[in-house]
Amino acid sequence: MQAVRAEGLTKRFGNLTAVDGVTFSVREGEIFGFLGPNGAGKTTTINMLITLLRPTAGEAWVAGHSVLREPREVRRRIGVVFQDPSLDRDLTGRENLVLHGLAYGMGREEIRGRISELLEFVELTPFADRQVKTYSGGMVRRLEIARALVHDPDILFLDEPTLGLDPQTRARIWDYISRLRREEGTTIFMTTHYMDEAEALCDRVAIIDHGRIVALGPPEELKASLGSDVVYVEGEGDLEALGRSVVDAGLAADFSLSGGELRLRVRSASAAIPRILELASALGIRVGEVTYRRPSLGDVFLHLTGRRLRDEEASPPRPLRGVRRRFS
Ligand SMILES: Nc1ncnc2c1ncn2[C@@H]1O[C@H](COP(=O)(O)OP(=O)(O)O)[C@@H](O)[C@H]1O
Ligand SMILES: [Mg+2]
Repeated sequence: MQAVRAEGLTKRFGNLTAVDGVTFSVREGEIFGFLGPNGAGKTTTINMLITLLRPTAGEAWVAGHSVLREPREVRRRIGVVFQDPSLDRDLTGRENLVLHGLAYGMGREEIRGRISELLEFVELTPFADRQVKTYSGGMVRRLEIARALVHDPDILFLDEPTLGLDPQTRARIWDYISRLRREEGTTIFMTTHYMDEAEALCDRVAIIDHGRIVALGPPEELKASLGSDVVYVEGEGDLEALGRSVVDAGLAADFSLSGGELRLRVRSASAAIPRILELASALGIRVGEVTYRRPSLGDVFLHLTGRRLRDEEASPPRPLRGVRRRFS
């Protein structure tokens, strides 16, 4: 069974079509991401799936239930972490979780057991009895994840789970998300405008722009669809001859030379690099350093839309340390 299925899901606000006929499905046990810039329609899509907003057109099923006709069934089976914090700041962390369990009709004993597990999971046990207003931004986010899990949902919806958090806290939240899927088999639907987050976590990503899905697939496939890695070779000798022979050998589409560095566009860096080094050695070139760069999801977005993802983090060329040690 599909955990989520959307068909032609559409939301208009007056003249603005915020979500424009999206069709996709999320498999059980999968981490599925919506990646797109601010205003792309990510939150609006989530709000329709979690039955907070009524679609203008189209339909969606969550955990096998129609969001239009069976909203209560849908709500029972999902957990939600909203983009904006929604905890009661005057209550303690634990009190927030208890309230949530009561709202879902759970018994006191069941709630107590579940909450102590979850507080451990998000590493908040020592802070559980402090008021939420004393928490840092990262602690608030972790408590919200715990709250979304109190009633043991099948599907967890996370809207921009690490928005505005520092790198350590982000890494920690990534770890919780992947453990949830691995250890509990929870299906996860998340949105993000950080391409590194989509790459780190998602089995499949839908790239969304102006309310439409412009590409959908595993991050590796989306990147591979651009068709090239870039390899940089630095060394002493006739690098131009090396460039020519790499192209003649059918390993690279083209090459360019600048500042004593040879740049080659290849289909797969890992397959091409050993053969490039063989050719270099045959030409008597002393190779200093080999680096390569994979296209990122940001490159995919740029390719499809002609624009950059906002807040995109640049990925610097990755040095191949093993290669450098062996060949320098
Ligand atoms: N309640 C609303 N009324 C009018 N316009 C809205 C409303 N909610 C969202 N929008 C607009 O819909 C578009 C998509 O918004 P949103 O789904 O929040 O995008 P994202 O979450 O990808 O940043 C934006 O242009 C936003 O201004
Ligand atoms: Mg949003």
